[in-house]
Amino acid sequence: DYSALAGLVISIKEYRDKLNQYYEENRNLILSGRHSASIAHDIRSLNIGVAGFLNLVLNRLGETQEGTIPKVDKRGLIMARDNSRQIENLLKNFSMFNRSELIIYRDTDLVKVVRDKLNSLKSRVDYERKFNFDLDVPQGDSGLLVDADWFSTVIENLVKNSIEACEKNCHISVKIIKTCTKVVLTFEDNSGGIPADLLPHIFNPFVSSKKRGQGLGLANARKVVEDQEGEISVKNKEGRGAVFTIEFPLSP
Ligand SMILES: Nc1ncnc2c1ncn2[C@@H]1O[C@H](COP(=O)(O)OP(=O)(O)OP(=O)(O)O)[C@@H](O)[C@H]1O
Ligand SMILES: [Mg+2]
Repeated sequence: DYSALAGLVISIKEYRDKLNQYYEENRNLILSGRHSASIAHDIRSLNIGVAGFLNLVLNRLGETQEGTIPKVDKRGLIMARDNSRQIENLLKNFSMFNRSELIIYRDTDLVKVVRDKLNSLKSRVDYERKFNFDLDVPQGDSGLLVDADWFSTVIENLVKNSIEACEKNCHISVKIIKTCTKVVLTFEDNSGGIPADLLPHIFNPFVSSKKRGQGLGLANARKVVEDQEGEISVKNKEGRGAVFTIEFPLSP
């Protein structure tokens, strides 16, 4: 019975189309589900460092309920702080990625957000000796409002990548150029550049060359930029380093 067979072929095709559509609609959810086990694993190993250090301090304090912090090795304290910061960053990027939509408040001028965030990163003890930056911006405002919170995360993710890619003395040059039609931000570092095989894919989620990298920093950066009608791209500089370019159109 050929008509039954034809019917079966059609229904298999419909089923396949539905499956593809489901995959397209839920791609991020599926990817994020697949990676949640490895993310949970990373958080647990980072937390061992935090809990281990706290245990050490508590053991020194003994059985009593009260007491002052005993002399501890500062390196343990630094490790606990760094691990806890990594957990914070991991969770921030993971939950950001899982949001279907970002709520955007265009509340602050781009120049102010970039300047404030770079200065605040520079003043963090764990960052201060690792990097330097120079900032070249137009006089006054850029004329473009962005979401201060979300955009600060973009800057933080870019700086973090540069620091992680530089062997030492990481230098970052940030420029904001304003024309009649657009505002362009370039972010240049002196790292070894992006590995050629990764270059076309680095804005895709879960692409990472790092032992403990989620591969979400740049996927989230792109999400924030695109939600604010911008575009982000990257290329390797001749010589050394990577250049990220973020372009926003200016409404007339
Ligand atoms: N400035 C850079 N210099 C060299 N390589 C870079 C630079 N920025 C990104 N990369 C490459 O792109 C990959 C993806 O970056 P992304 O920030 O999305 O993820 P990650 O840094 O690996 O992990 P996460 O940011 O989630 O902790 C990195 O693993 C690295 O290989
Ligand atoms: Mg990163």
